[in-house]
Amino acid sequence: MANTVLTGLQWGDEGKGKIIDVITETADVVVRFQGGCNAGHTVEVGADKFILHLIPSGIIRPDVECIIGNGVVVDPVALAGEIQELEERGYPVSRRLSISSRCHLVFPYHHQMDGLSETRLGSNKIGTTKRGIGPAYADKARRQGIRAELLRDKDEFEKRFRACAEEYNRLFSQAGMEPVDVEKAWRELADVVPILAPLVRDTALQVNQSIARGDTVIFEGAQGTWLDVDYGTYPYVTSSNTISGSACVGAGVPPSNVGNVMGIAKAYTTRVGSGPFPTELTGETGNLLRDQGQEYGATTGRPRRCGWFDAVATKYAVMLNGADGLAVTKLDVLDHIDPIRVCIGYRINGENVEELPADSREIETCEPIYEELPGWNCSTGGVRCWADLPDKAKAYLERIATLVDAPVSIVSVGADRAQTFFVSG
Ligand code: GDP
Ligand code: IMO
Ligand code: MG
Repeated sequence: MANTVLTGLQWGDEGKGKIIDVITETADVVVRFQGGCNAGHTVEVGADKFILHLIPSGIIRPDVECIIGNGVVVDPVALAGEIQELEERGYPVSRRLSISSRCHLVFPYHHQMDGLSETRLGSNKIGTTKRGIGPAYADKARRQGIRAELLRDKDEFEKRFRACAEEYNRLFSQAGMEPVDVEKAWRELADVVPILAPLVRDTALQVNQSIARGDTVIFEGAQGTWLDVDYGTYPYVTSSNTISGSACVGAGVPPSNVGNVMGIAKAYTTRVGSGPFPTELTGETGNLLRDQGQEYGATTGRPRRCGWFDAVATKYAVMLNGADGLAVTKLDVLDHIDPIRVCIGYRINGENVEELPADSREIETCEPIYEELPGWNCSTGGVRCWADLPDKAKAYLERIATLVDAPVSIVSVGADRAQTFFVSG
């Protein structure tokens, strides 16, 4: 298998964790390249369920090397907790996990600032995960961040952390908010330094050396294309670039070393948090999708907004990511929905439009134009190859592939690792 970037083509939660776990069966290295613990990537193997926030989804496969690339913002306390939880469940993590020394760190003052920004926005709030992601990336861009390299120099780390925390606390007092308890926060950080410091290294060097040795590397994206800070439904987006091009920067590899791009999409659409969502269903069918798909956030537990598959938005996402193939997940959730609708265009102010506009205010005015396809009205959860899919399910997938201009390479019909099959070209 070629080195492959996996990214979400919608608004996140497409099933990236599951697909990464599946394809990592034949890979050597998995690198997360952006986001932070706003992500929640679920992997289910038999009765075991794992929700990964910072640790790459390859960790469940023995012997796979896992790397947190420089593009990720790392909450040290959250990461140490995740390592500990997996180790307690019998998965040795420390000996095969690396953290880029260039990763920016997320601290309690970032969480608090995230909350403050949301409060200030009132009814226009982004609906963030409140994991401090935006403020941490903001500190990185304004050159005020603290990077993982300082975990190896505890005295300097403490000095820098305290100085930054005090500066934030001044802002919080001005806003009439409780300051961050610097002593408590430092004690928690000091506790995790010995766990994390030995894992900090130059991961760009490590990944490029792996590639030169002929290892297969998987690049794991978080969030989804429509949450990308440049291309998503701004400002209702996350604070990093989520599209495949970001893998090069966030992992430290040149484009010439990336072989394939796999785009992951649900057979319908979900979104969590605020912002425009043209194919959203607020009535009975939306509730049915939420119930059938168990659409509740893996990180925050919030109910996800559900809607029909948006072929227009996904086609644009295929273009931005350069997806060579699609992994279509959660097909089983549509098993008893008939008819099924797919968005093939929009009407804005009475005119037909074939692209999702860039301006969120304009997206809010989009009325979707739907094509109707017949449902298959039977269970697909036990299907393990293309030939065994009901004809109407095949027709649905083939129609999606045509509309978004990328072939279906993987189909997922349930949360378990085994409920997946590859589609040969
Ligand atoms: P990610 O953030 O893209 O990794 O996706 P999440 O893990 O947040 O959300 C996907 C959810 O759908 C998880 O609960 C998965 O266990 C589940 N899931 C993944 N693929 C399938 C599928 O094909 N069918 C069903 N029913 N559930 C799936
Ligand atoms: P995975 O990797 C779905 C959403 C939040 C909010 C916006 C900004 O599991 O697919 P942030 O906390 O990043 O500042 O929030 O982005 N969001 C996600 N939605 N899946 C995710 O990750 C998300 N990470 C952030 O709900 O709308
Ligand atoms: Mg998720």
